[in-house]
Amino acid sequence: MEIKEFMGGRIRLFMGDITLMEVDAVVNAANSSLLGGGGVDGAIHRAAGPQLLESCRKIGGCATGDAVITPGFNLKAKYIIHTVGPIWRGGQHGEPNLLASCYRKSLELAACHQIKSIAFPNISTGAYGYPHQEAAEIAINTVNEFLINHSIPDYVWFVCFGNSNYNIYEEKLRAKF
Ligand code: APR
Repeated sequence: MEIKEFMGGRIRLFMGDITLMEVDAVVNAANSSLLGGGGVDGAIHRAAGPQLLESCRKIGGCATGDAVITPGFNLKAKYIIHTVGPIWRGGQHGEPNLLASCYRKSLELAACHQIKSIAFPNISTGAYGYPHQEAAEIAINTVNEFLINHSIPDYVWFVCFGNSNYNIYEEKLRAKF
Protein backbone atom coordinates (compact mmCIF):
# COMPACT_ATOMS: atom_id res chain seq x y z
CA MET A 1 0.00 0.00 0.00
CA GLU A 2 1.15 3.41 -0.96
CA ILE A 3 2.32 6.04 1.52
CA LYS A 4 1.22 9.61 0.87
CA GLU A 5 3.37 12.41 2.30
CA PHE A 6 2.35 15.92 3.31
CA MET A 7 4.00 18.82 5.15
CA GLY A 8 7.41 18.02 3.68
CA GLY A 9 7.03 14.35 4.67
CA ARG A 10 6.36 15.01 8.36
CA ILE A 11 2.72 13.92 7.97
CA ARG A 12 2.13 10.54 6.34
CA LEU A 13 -1.09 8.87 5.33
CA PHE A 14 -1.41 5.11 5.16
CA MET A 15 -4.21 2.57 4.98
CA GLY A 16 -3.69 -0.59 7.01
CA ASP A 17 -3.43 -2.26 10.39
CA ILE A 18 -1.73 -0.02 12.95
CA THR A 19 -0.41 -3.01 14.94
CA LEU A 20 2.01 -3.77 12.09
CA MET A 21 3.52 -0.29 11.90
CA GLU A 22 7.29 0.00 12.26
CA VAL A 23 7.32 3.27 14.17
CA ASP A 24 8.61 4.32 17.59
CA ALA A 25 5.08 4.61 19.03
CA VAL A 26 1.58 3.58 18.09
CA VAL A 27 -1.40 5.31 19.64
CA ASN A 28 -4.25 3.24 21.04
CA ALA A 29 -7.86 4.50 21.06
CA ALA A 30 -8.53 3.13 24.53
CA ASN A 31 -11.31 3.56 27.08
CA SER A 32 -10.83 5.13 30.50
CA SER A 33 -10.38 1.76 32.25
CA LEU A 34 -7.36 1.01 30.00
CA LEU A 35 -8.30 -2.65 30.36
CA GLY A 36 -8.89 -3.34 26.67
CA GLY A 37 -11.92 -3.57 24.43
CA GLY A 38 -12.79 -4.07 20.77
CA GLY A 39 -11.65 -2.23 17.65
CA VAL A 40 -8.10 -0.96 17.53
CA ASP A 41 -7.76 -1.40 21.31
CA GLY A 42 -8.50 -5.14 21.05
CA ALA A 43 -6.13 -5.50 18.10
CA ILE A 44 -3.29 -3.73 19.94
CA HIS A 45 -3.75 -5.82 23.10
CA ARG A 46 -3.79 -9.05 21.08
CA ALA A 47 -0.67 -8.10 19.14
CA ALA A 48 1.27 -6.68 22.11
CA GLY A 49 0.52 -9.66 24.37
CA PRO A 50 -0.69 -10.10 27.97
CA GLN A 51 2.05 -7.98 29.54
CA LEU A 52 0.28 -4.93 28.12
CA LEU A 53 -2.83 -5.54 30.23
CA GLU A 54 -0.64 -5.93 33.32
CA SER A 55 1.09 -2.66 32.58
CA CYS A 56 -2.24 -0.85 31.95
CA ARG A 57 -3.70 -2.23 35.16
CA LYS A 58 -0.79 -0.72 37.11
CA ILE A 59 -1.47 2.71 35.60
CA GLY A 60 -5.04 2.41 36.85
CA GLY A 61 -6.98 4.41 34.23
CA CYS A 62 -6.94 7.50 32.05
CA ALA A 63 -9.35 10.44 31.76
CA THR A 64 -11.05 11.30 28.48
CA GLY A 65 -8.77 13.58 26.47
CA ASP A 66 -5.66 12.45 28.35
CA ALA A 67 -2.87 10.03 27.36
CA VAL A 68 -0.53 7.57 29.08
CA ILE A 69 2.44 5.56 27.82
CA THR A 70 3.48 1.89 28.12
CA PRO A 71 6.10 -0.23 26.42
CA GLY A 72 5.10 -1.82 23.10
CA PHE A 73 5.90 -5.36 24.30
CA ASN A 74 5.44 -7.71 21.29
CA LEU A 75 4.71 -4.90 18.83
CA LYS A 76 7.43 -3.63 16.51
CA ALA A 77 6.77 -0.23 18.08
CA LYS A 78 8.82 0.51 21.21
CA TYR A 79 5.94 2.33 22.90
CA ILE A 80 2.16 2.40 22.99
CA ILE A 81 0.50 5.69 23.85
CA HIS A 82 -3.02 5.10 25.12
CA THR A 83 -5.46 7.95 24.77
CA VAL A 84 -9.17 8.08 25.54
CA GLY A 85 -11.31 9.77 22.92
CA PRO A 86 -14.68 11.33 23.67
CA ILE A 87 -17.91 9.45 23.03
CA TRP A 88 -19.92 11.47 20.47
CA ARG A 89 -23.02 12.87 22.14
CA GLY A 90 -24.09 15.40 19.52
CA GLY A 91 -21.09 17.73 19.65
CA GLN A 92 -22.23 20.07 22.43
CA HIS A 93 -20.51 18.22 25.25
CA GLY A 94 -16.93 19.33 24.71
CA GLU A 95 -16.21 16.60 22.16
CA PRO A 96 -14.07 18.74 19.77
CA ASN A 97 -11.80 19.99 22.57
CA LEU A 98 -11.48 16.54 24.08
CA LEU A 99 -10.60 14.96 20.74
CA ALA A 100 -8.00 17.67 20.01
CA SER A 101 -6.60 17.06 23.49
CA CYS A 102 -6.10 13.34 22.69
CA TYR A 103 -3.84 14.23 19.75
CA ARG A 104 -2.03 17.02 21.62
CA LYS A 105 -1.38 15.01 24.81
CA SER A 106 -0.20 12.02 22.79
CA LEU A 107 2.26 14.22 20.90
CA GLU A 108 3.45 15.86 24.12
CA LEU A 109 4.17 12.43 25.60
CA ALA A 110 5.95 11.43 22.39
CA ALA A 111 8.13 14.53 22.53
CA CYS A 112 8.97 13.83 26.21
CA HIS A 113 10.16 10.33 25.26
CA GLN A 114 12.18 11.48 22.23
CA ILE A 115 9.84 9.53 19.96
CA LYS A 116 10.70 10.25 16.34
CA SER A 117 7.79 8.52 14.64
CA ILE A 118 4.25 8.02 15.88
CA ALA A 119 1.18 6.43 14.28
CA PHE A 120 -2.38 7.49 15.12
CA PRO A 121 -5.56 5.57 14.42
CA ASN A 122 -8.73 7.58 13.74
CA ILE A 123 -9.55 8.13 17.41
CA SER A 124 -13.24 8.03 18.42
CA THR A 125 -14.47 7.25 14.88
CA GLY A 126 -15.45 3.63 15.59
CA ALA A 127 -17.36 2.51 18.69
CA TYR A 128 -17.37 6.10 20.03
CA GLY A 129 -19.32 7.36 16.99
CA TYR A 130 -17.51 10.63 16.21
CA PRO A 131 -18.47 11.87 12.70
CA HIS A 132 -15.57 11.06 10.39
CA GLN A 133 -15.25 14.42 8.61
CA GLU A 134 -15.20 16.42 11.83
CA ALA A 135 -12.79 14.00 13.53
CA ALA A 136 -10.37 14.12 10.59
CA GLU A 137 -10.43 17.93 10.57
CA ILE A 138 -9.53 18.05 14.27
CA ALA A 139 -6.83 15.38 13.94
CA ILE A 140 -5.12 17.10 11.01
CA ASN A 141 -5.31 20.62 12.46
CA THR A 142 -4.07 19.58 15.89
CA VAL A 143 -1.15 17.56 14.52
CA ASN A 144 -0.21 20.30 12.08
CA GLU A 145 -0.20 22.94 14.80
CA PHE A 146 1.93 20.76 17.08
CA LEU A 147 4.47 19.97 14.36
CA ILE A 148 4.79 23.65 13.42
CA ASN A 149 5.79 24.39 17.02
CA HIS A 150 7.91 21.30 17.84
CA SER A 151 10.82 19.58 16.14
CA ILE A 152 9.91 16.14 17.58
CA PRO A 153 8.28 13.87 16.58
CA ASP A 154 9.79 13.94 13.09
CA TYR A 155 7.00 11.89 11.52
CA VAL A 156 3.32 11.53 12.29
CA TRP A 157 1.38 8.78 10.53
CA PHE A 158 -2.38 8.76 10.13
CA VAL A 159 -3.29 5.10 9.78
CA CYS A 160 -6.78 4.54 8.37
CA PHE A 161 -8.36 1.13 8.58
CA GLY A 162 -10.71 1.52 5.63
CA ASN A 163 -11.50 3.53 2.52
CA SER A 164 -13.98 5.85 4.15
CA ASN A 165 -11.58 7.52 6.57
CA TYR A 166 -8.65 7.22 4.16
CA ASN A 167 -10.47 9.17 1.44
CA ILE A 168 -11.53 11.86 3.90
CA TYR A 169 -7.96 12.29 5.16
CA GLU A 170 -6.53 12.35 1.66
CA GLU A 171 -8.92 15.04 0.55
CA LYS A 172 -8.39 17.20 3.64
CA LEU A 173 -4.59 16.83 3.61
CA ARG A 174 -4.39 17.68 -0.10
CA ALA A 175 -6.55 20.76 0.48
CA LYS A 176 -4.37 21.92 3.40
CA PHE A 177 -0.85 21.29 2.07
N1 APR B 1 -5.60 -0.57 12.84
C1 APR B 1 -5.95 0.72 12.59
N2 APR B 1 -7.18 1.21 12.81
C2 APR B 1 -8.11 0.37 13.31
C3 APR B 1 -7.83 -1.00 13.61
C4 APR B 1 -6.51 -1.44 13.36
N3 APR B 1 -6.12 -2.70 13.60
N4 APR B 1 -8.96 -1.56 14.09
C5 APR B 1 -9.91 -0.61 14.08
N5 APR B 1 -9.41 0.54 13.60
C6 APR B 1 -10.06 1.84 13.40
C7 APR B 1 -11.56 1.85 13.21
O1 APR B 1 -11.89 1.58 11.87
C8 APR B 1 -11.92 3.27 13.61
O2 APR B 1 -11.84 4.15 12.49
O3 APR B 1 -9.87 2.63 14.56
C9 APR B 1 -10.84 3.67 14.60
C10 APR B 1 -11.33 3.85 16.01
O4 APR B 1 -12.32 2.88 16.28
P1 APR B 1 -12.42 2.10 17.68
O5 APR B 1 -11.31 1.14 17.78
O6 APR B 1 -13.80 1.59 17.80
O7 APR B 1 -12.12 3.27 18.77
P2 APR B 1 -13.07 4.45 19.33
O8 APR B 1 -14.11 4.87 18.38
O9 APR B 1 -12.10 5.49 19.84
O10 APR B 1 -13.81 3.78 20.55
C11 APR B 1 -13.08 3.42 21.69
O11 APR B 1 -13.67 1.12 21.53
O12 APR B 1 -13.18 -1.06 21.95
C12 APR B 1 -13.15 0.10 22.33
O13 APR B 1 -11.83 -0.07 24.32
C13 APR B 1 -12.19 0.77 23.27
O14 APR B 1 -14.08 1.36 24.55
C14 APR B 1 -13.12 1.86 23.66
C15 APR B 1 -13.78 2.26 22.36
